[in-house]
Amino acid sequence: MGAQESPQREGVSASGNLDSAQVEGESLRRVKEEDSSPRRVSPRLKQFLMNPPEIELCLLLSRAQLSPQAWERALALLSTPLRWEFLLERAKAFGLFPLVYTGLSSHGLPSEQDYTLELRRLEGLAAAAHKEGKQVVVVMGLGFVGAVMAAIVADTVHKKKGHPTKFVIGCQRPSTRSYWKTPLLNRGESPVKAEDPEVDPMIRRCVLEKRTLTATFNPDCLALADCVVVDVQCDYSKQHLGTMKTGEADMAALEATLRQIGEKIQPQCLVLMETTVPPGTTEFVAWPILKKAFRARGIKAEPLLAHSFERVMPGKDYVSSIRDFWRVCSGCNGKARMRVVKFLSEVLNVEKFPLTAMDRPIESETTKIVENSYRATILAFLNEWSIFSERNGVDLTKVIRAIKIRPTHSNIIFPGPGIGGYCLPKDGGLGYWAYEHILGFQDGDSVFKISTAAIDINDTRALHVAELTRDALRNMGRYIAGARVLLAGASYREDVGDTRYSGSELVLRKLAEMGAEVSVHDPYVHHWYELESQDTYPATGRSWARFFRNQQDLVNIRVQKDLPAALKGVEALILAVRHKPYLQLKPDEVVKWASGPIAVVDCFGILEDTEITRYFELGCEVKALGRGHIQRLKEKVRSARA
Ligand SMILES: NC(=O)c1ccc[n+]([C@@H]2O[C@H](COP(=O)([O-])OP(=O)(O)OC[C@H]3O[C@@H](n4cnc5c(N)ncnc54)[C@H](O)[C@@H]3O)[C@@H](O)[C@H]2O)c1
Repeated sequence: MGAQESPQREGVSASGNLDSAQVEGESLRRVKEEDSSPRRVSPRLKQFLMNPPEIELCLLLSRAQLSPQAWERALALLSTPLRWEFLLERAKAFGLFPLVYTGLSSHGLPSEQDYTLELRRLEGLAAAAHKEGKQVVVVMGLGFVGAVMAAIVADTVHKKKGHPTKFVIGCQRPSTRSYWKTPLLNRGESPVKAEDPEVDPMIRRCVLEKRTLTATFNPDCLALADCVVVDVQCDYSKQHLGTMKTGEADMAALEATLRQIGEKIQPQCLVLMETTVPPGTTEFVAWPILKKAFRARGIKAEPLLAHSFERVMPGKDYVSSIRDFWRVCSGCNGKARMRVVKFLSEVLNVEKFPLTAMDRPIESETTKIVENSYRATILAFLNEWSIFSERNGVDLTKVIRAIKIRPTHSNIIFPGPGIGGYCLPKDGGLGYWAYEHILGFQDGDSVFKISTAAIDINDTRALHVAELTRDALRNMGRYIAGARVLLAGASYREDVGDTRYSGSELVLRKLAEMGAEVSVHDPYVHHWYELESQDTYPATGRSWARFFRNQQDLVNIRVQKDLPAALKGVEALILAVRHKPYLQLKPDEVVKWASGPIAVVDCFGILEDTEITRYFELGCEVKALGRGHIQRLKEKVRSARA
């Protein structure tokens, strides 16, 4: 509505932006004309004429309490085609910015009135979008996946004619932890930090220029949707570190979302689950929830439910890992399958990256779990060869390089200090759990041996880094307890700022347990919430802190950005992630910045042999995951000295 219609209204510049001075000037002109007419204008009417609807709305909303009449008037105004940009600008001036812009009251979370106002806003926008022939798409959950997926859908244009075809409402539940994502996105800013230079401009373009994307906290927007994309979380919560099988899938957020969807959507709305789920969830959990809700509403039609998992890789190719990548999909019935193929063909680059449509959702769900279990397994199996290499003078990084030359083995990679990220540490667990708890089999322990063991191995590999650090310090006559250790790299993979389940977190927690004084550097991570908010993040009682002693002070750790300053006075440096700046570090500089020889621990095949040798020449001690040849290099330096 307003946003699209504003160019036709008076006081709007050619660029579509309203010049507020023009509007107020226009109102004054109207008042002056009234003044020169024979009929006298009352001060109230004069005041009213001064106010275009946007200003009247601000005046109304700035009252401490709204009378029922004022409330009615506010709602009526919200139903008119408003110039939203102007409204927001004025609302800011009135100090109402959070209220009108996002529907959030100044206390952060929305009030009942906010919900009503917000729905009116969304109804107007959806009606305008429908009038322009656009499809209204609601994306549930503005997290790492949903925020960017919402922007990609909003950026969709007709493949031949080039005009926008979707209007997207990103719906984020207003929890105390996540409510801020809504106002941020509505300002045209990304709620997820991304190294991909495409993310920020795409969100800005869709929100502020194309006006095809808005965010809301109000799930009533579901009633306006032609298609709902579900991107909420489905976690796997582990009870013990390194014993995945005692954990369980946490489907609460997903089930609650599905209940909301069932209660609100139109019968012909397509629901597309993108959340990674335990296999069987779409057909045996989600579909029954939707069917039950439809029955309760007296809807006879079968809900149109489909599944297509995300393969997104937050990082420098964030957008293209969604839009320009192969997708697998399926539907609970023929119509849902047809609709999901159509929808994905419209929003993704299926010409270059064709879709694979499967018969049943359990097949596409299983595809996701198997592909991630496969990845977790090929990383985990190298752990035993990593230990073998350390103890027998072998450099595993060179072994891997030699194997990679074979095209059939080109995806073998060095495992680093565990694998981290949101998906690989949990997805195999979802499969194991589903086998018993959704699909009803009792013999999960005898069937699942490899996928589950892989997760356990990956989850605990990082602990060995703490052992290596202890041993390197000991070789220098120092103790780990009380030692100042700099952990370089907090994220789970190179050149990204995502810290979820990173191996570095376990390294740090284990070192803290052993009494080391750990500090952290990372060029991409601004806040390490897993530490800073460990009492509540990723959820209350779920922090990895629970598996270690001596963790309370870690909330005070702040990620440092100045590497020379961070290195000052440290006794050990752990190179945990292959971030670009760490690949370029010179041993002489490191020793200079640290003010003397230190222990250096390489977790990711970061150091070249020449650098390892140089560290030894400078009096440092070097240890590394999977690199047994280091002892040889050390002896060479020693014998050259003798
Ligand atoms: N992050 C990745 O790299 C990645 C990659 C592939 C697949 N996935 C899968 O995608 C799914 C989403 O992952 P994510 O990383 O975006 O998770 P996330 O935790 O970052 O985001 C989920 C969001 O959904 C919101 N939410 C929960 N319930 C809601 C509701 N009822 N209404 C509105 N919002 C609600 C949460 O508050 C949160 O903001 C998961 O299943 C994950 O396994 C993630």
